[in-house]
Amino acid sequence: MNIAIFASGSGSNAENIIRYFSSSQLYHFYVFCNNPKAFVIERAKRTDTPCYIFPRKDFFNAENTPLLLREKNIDFIVLAGFLQKIPDEILALYPRKIINIHPSLLPKFGGKGMYGHHVHEAVKAAGETRSGITIHYVNEVYDSGTIIFQAQCDITPNDTPDDIAQKVHILEMEHYPKVTEKLLKDLNTL
Ligand code: GRF
Repeated sequence: MNIAIFASGSGSNAENIIRYFSSSQLYHFYVFCNNPKAFVIERAKRTDTPCYIFPRKDFFNAENTPLLLREKNIDFIVLAGFLQKIPDEILALYPRKIINIHPSLLPKFGGKGMYGHHVHEAVKAAGETRSGITIHYVNEVYDSGTIIFQAQCDITPNDTPDDIAQKVHILEMEHYPKVTEKLLKDLNTL
């Protein structure tokens, strides 16, 4: 199976997933990046993963991403810190085959503008005692597709937004590869 990981930033989730599957011959990964300055490009290099970089405005041009998805026979798309809305034509090509990870317990603290430190600051400001991760299918509305998996962590009153981010990151590292693997295996047995 061919899997595209779409990423715009640091790419710690992308690298973690690629390394998790590195001993398997069954899955081939490609990184698609819409930010030429993103650190995920370096991570793709050091994991020997093909990486396609498009400036943000060109990312979804007919000659770019959709064509490459077809050319590389991409079966499944994993969003890992990808800060651009997926257009309807790609959603239509990949029904229940595009997933995302969000660093909060959706439906809380999701939607446009809720990414990175904004999420953890909002969680702190709301005085939440728990946060966590949500892995969900992607649909036409930000962070609102069917939830596949959630994991929680406790927040103490002393935790700063950075502390919350660290706790959530641990959950991301632990669960995103495993959940991805399960979905890919399920697809393989269809
Ligand atoms: C993660 O917190 C993920 O939950 C969110 O974007 C962040 C990406 O981090 N969707 P990284 O680029 O994988 O390090």
